[in-house]
Amino acid sequence: MKVFVTGGAGYIGSHTLVRLLAAGHDVCVFDNYANSSPVALARARQLTNREVVAVEGDIRDSDALAQSLADFAPDAVVHFAGLKAVGESNDIPLLYYQTNVTGTMNLLAAMDAAGCRRIVFSSSATVYGEAQYLPFDEEHPIAPTNPYGRTKAMAEGVIRDWATATPDASAVLLRYFNPVGAHESGRIGEDPQDTPNNLMPFVAQVAVGRRARLSIFGDDYDTRDGTGERDYIHVVDLAAAHLAALEYSARATGCEAINVGTGQGITVKELVAAYEAACGRPIAAEIAPRRPGDVASSYAATAKAERLLGWQAALDVDDMCRSSWKWQSENPQGYDATTGAGA
Ligand code: NAD
Ligand code: WQD
Repeated sequence: MKVFVTGGAGYIGSHTLVRLLAAGHDVCVFDNYANSSPVALARARQLTNREVVAVEGDIRDSDALAQSLADFAPDAVVHFAGLKAVGESNDIPLLYYQTNVTGTMNLLAAMDAAGCRRIVFSSSATVYGEAQYLPFDEEHPIAPTNPYGRTKAMAEGVIRDWATATPDASAVLLRYFNPVGAHESGRIGEDPQDTPNNLMPFVAQVAVGRRARLSIFGDDYDTRDGTGERDYIHVVDLAAAHLAALEYSARATGCEAINVGTGQGITVKELVAAYEAACGRPIAAEIAPRRPGDVASSYAATAKAERLLGWQAALDVDDMCRSSWKWQSENPQGYDATTGAGA
């Protein structure tokens, strides 16, 4: 199958790329490297011994996007490209709407022009907002609490309307919970450009000595140990979910939103303990005030993914921490310190 992957050099995109290539699919990556490095693509080639077409381009540039898509003539699209920092989205909302919403509209128009009717979209559990009940199932009301979440909810709506209006279209909206971990080779992984916003990359940078200590945002939540509880999903399991979604999109039409998580909540303290076991060193941490906007608990109902995609998570929190540590310890500065493509 020919698959056009926007944002394929990024964290989740590069892991999915490896999986696609290993399964024998032909892939074109379209990425402007705003938050990624072409070195990730070189390493995906090395890991799989397969070629990848790579186009440097911006999804806001509708002409360039349409041209690339028409040239490649894909059977399906996986749409990762976007901006994802919740805090930043409060400061520069228009850039988030232009990239995440207009970029998605440009992509759908380009697909129409090229006759491509299958899309798998990177959505987020953040579209649910405050939990009215747990676990979050796909029927939970959509009420995002920040601009980033609203762009994802809006993009979902645009894709759903497109799928309704387009004969034989198939769209899968994957709502990721908290993706973490890295490829078992340690060659690709998460490489935040500035201070990490998320827990796991922050812990990894403390473990490797890039940061002095972790601030645990609150220990007075109504959870087992008072710290926030999340559904961490191994990025390699998440990559497998994309392949399952692509297969599903070949046999079903319409639009489905599907959670991608393990269904299990892990607290901050539990994750730190698992990371200490994986890296064999203590993680310095202090209790800090709650982070505004954080909820106590979030975890997924996973039955729909099992029913429609035949997919469920196979890797546990120890696998997540071990693989993260292998990546972080073997690439302490991420892709930055790499000299030359493919190094
Ligand atoms: P990432 O930043 O590593 O990957 C996004 C990729 O898109 C990067 O390679 C970036 O360079 C590219 N990109 C950004 N703007 C672009 C533009 N205008 N044109 C072309 N390419 C552009 O992030 P990720 O963690 O791999 O996330 C991938 C997708 O999954 C995003 O849409 C994100 O919102 C979504 N998501 C991520 C998480 C998470 O916690 N990582 C959770 C839920 C959903
Ligand atoms: C996890 C837990 C924090 C950092 C975010 C986005 C969401 C989605 C995934 C894209 C919480 C605690 C964190 C730190 C801490 N992204 N924490 N110290 O907030 O569940 O979700 O990423 O779609 O949209 O909102 O993930 O990793 O930031 O936090 O104590 O330095 O770790 O309070 O309990 P979150 P996170």
